[in-house]
Amino acid sequence: MPVEPTPPLTRLADRLRARPFEVDIALAALLGLGLLALFGATASYGPTEWLLSAGLLAPLAWRRRAPVPAAGVVVVTGLAELLLSDQFLAGNVAAPAMVYALAAYGPRWAARAGLGAGLVGAGLAALRYFGGYSFSSGPADLYGRGLLEVVVTAGGIGVLVLASWSMGMVRRGRLQREAALRERAQLLELERDQELRLAASTERARIAREMHDVVAHSLSVVIAQADGGRYAGRTDPEAAVGALEQISSTGRQALADMRSLLGVLREGDAQQFAPQPDVAAVPALVEDVRRSGLDVDLLTEGEPVEMAGGAQLAAYRIVQESLTNVLKHAGPASRAWVRLQWRADALEVSVLDDGRGAAAMLAPDGNGQGVIGMRERAVLHGGRLETGPRHGGGFGVHAVLPYRRRR
Ligand SMILES: Nc1ncnc2c1ncn2[C@@H]1O[C@H](COP(=O)(O)OP(=O)(O)OP(=O)(O)O)[C@@H](O)[C@H]1O
Ligand SMILES: [Mg+2]
Repeated sequence: MPVEPTPPLTRLADRLRARPFEVDIALAALLGLGLLALFGATASYGPTEWLLSAGLLAPLAWRRRAPVPAAGVVVVTGLAELLLSDQFLAGNVAAPAMVYALAAYGPRWAARAGLGAGLVGAGLAALRYFGGYSFSSGPADLYGRGLLEVVVTAGGIGVLVLASWSMGMVRRGRLQREAALRERAQLLELERDQELRLAASTERARIAREMHDVVAHSLSVVIAQADGGRYAGRTDPEAAVGALEQISSTGRQALADMRSLLGVLREGDAQQFAPQPDVAAVPALVEDVRRSGLDVDLLTEGEPVEMAGGAQLAAYRIVQESLTNVLKHAGPASRAWVRLQWRADALEVSVLDDGRGAAAMLAPDGNGQGVIGMRERAVLHGGRLETGPRHGGGFGVHAVLPYRRRR
């Protein structure tokens, strides 16, 4: 998509917005020069007037960065002006400008104080310049000029101050709304980031579980078959051929499972591509393990109930990993039982054996991903899973997988 070029004016505005302080300095300087050009040339400014003008106008550059100190300088200079000079200084426009700046950028108290100071200043200025009152030498011809004129002028300047203050307050509201919006946007972004990360880690855990169960199970069966075949090779060549067939079929199955998993990794959506094993595939699994040499029985109680695909896969993988663990940890002469109980509201899966049990747990030889993965699967589908050595020997895995997830 072609990117539209930014209009030059917008670009300029963006650039100016990025350096507010420099802009304020330039504005203050321009204002000062303009006013001096307008009034300074015609008026008879002495050094005092130049100094006072600078004291009034220079703080404008700091009106956003440090509004309170800047306003303080303007107030002090304004009072000095009343005492030291008898000319009306053009720089006095700094006063309403500072009232605006305090309302817009200062803390709340400063906004109010700015309004108060501005109104008092309006009165003082009216007295000084339109009432002819001299603050250094006392009343001159105040009553000669007329009180009404002073009051009207004070009112006029007061209205100007009030207008500046109101505009400042409007600006303040806008700034606050903008800040709130920005904060909200940042929060939203943060939330989205976290969600993404969470989704990624959930997905990683899911893939790790599948990898673990498929690979570890197949390899365990292959190893058991290869061990058996090695002995059989000498005495019973037919059994050895059977073992080799089992090894190759297990290997092929594992390869197919791995491919579908890798396909998921590459294509994204999981269940769409490969049909995943379900509870109905448990008998074949048990048969598989039985052929690899473990004496294992399957008992089913109750009528099978329709269950979500994910929960069915969880049940299958729990049986698979538990039987793999029996092959790996229970010791050679052990038996195992797989029991599927279709209860009223949940499928209960138990895999028990009469092997080494607690003794095997004293010297764990794997890396302990299997039980963690089984428990994650059960919890993911609203169920639970317990494992541990059984009273009287052997090991047991017991899982409950509800048909419907409770909210
Ligand atoms: N049937 C069992 N008989 C005896 N001990 C078992 C049995 N099943 C599991 N265990 C014990 O529980 C531990 C944890 O099992 P888990 O499946 O989590 O890990 P693992 O099989 O050792 O390694 P992994 O599954 O990650 O390859 C095992 O190391 C073992 O000590
Ligand atoms: Mg294991």
